[in-house]
Amino acid sequence: MASVTVRAPGKINLALHVGPRDDSGYHELLSVFQAVDVWETLTAEDAAEFSLEVVGDVVTDDIPLDENNLALQAARAVQKASGYDGAAALHITKRVPVGGGMAGGSADAAAALVALDALWETGLSRERLLDLAAELGSDVPFCLEGHTQIGRGRGHLLEPVSSRPFHWVIAPSTLHLSTPLVYSTLDEQRGDAAPEVPGAPSPGLLEALAYGDAVALAGELVNDLATPAVSLAPGIPTVLDTGLSLGALAGMVSGSGPTCVFLAEDAAHQTSLLEGLTGEGVYALAATSPAQGAHLVQD
Ligand code: C5P
Repeated sequence: MASVTVRAPGKINLALHVGPRDDSGYHELLSVFQAVDVWETLTAEDAAEFSLEVVGDVVTDDIPLDENNLALQAARAVQKASGYDGAAALHITKRVPVGGGMAGGSADAAAALVALDALWETGLSRERLLDLAAELGSDVPFCLEGHTQIGRGRGHLLEPVSSRPFHWVIAPSTLHLSTPLVYSTLDEQRGDAAPEVPGAPSPGLLEALAYGDAVALAGELVNDLATPAVSLAPGIPTVLDTGLSLGALAGMVSGSGPTCVFLAEDAAHQTSLLEGLTGEGVYALAATSPAQGAHLVQD
């Protein structure tokens, strides 16, 4: 095989409960992740040396092209774990907003794990790939698995939950937020008052997902990172108000932000919401959830 292509999804957090920071510097999470059909596409080709090219219809200026890039780190991790004696040229087409709280960088890493495992026919087990994913970043295992998952620990310990489809409108921002900065702002705002995370997601949330009840889901969305994200990106409330005034069932910050996501009742409502937001000058795109995790596609 000389080249393979993989797609990996962006994610939203339907619930994101953040507990205290532990000794490792990470926060204990209880999250309900859902993958959306906003895809990163990565092609990996056999090459004598590692290289990376990134293109896309999102602003890609902030993306490191050196060893700080998570996809390159993932490629090297597969090389090391498998003992493969060679390298690869990576080409990424981005659609997930950069620095937007939708795990675009993590999706690239998950795509690279799947691509190089296939390209080099490493035979690494799924468990080994998930371990490599967790070492690369807290959201990488989710981007590998996709669908809908409860995330515990740093967000890397996953448990699948069932979900009917939901329709969203996503409003990315040109502003990029650093995830560590959003977490440390939360710590400052909370002082010593960080609550423990709940043991499980609310039963109402899980029921809404299982029955495909968008109205019930709207009342269950929660994100502890919304307040620090808003203080770092003060334009967020205006975008949220615009979506809500156009009839979105709910509007929320995605993960560490500043991307905002709006829940629609169905596909027709999604289309009218998208048109309304675009008409108000808000750049937006339609997305459906849940979506599958990183997977090979035909070239
Ligand atoms: O795991 P990842 O490298 O993606 O995390 C980026 C940053 O987000 C961490 O360095 C940390 O500041 C913050 N983070 C956290 N608690 C988590 C996940 C991420 O504090 N559970």
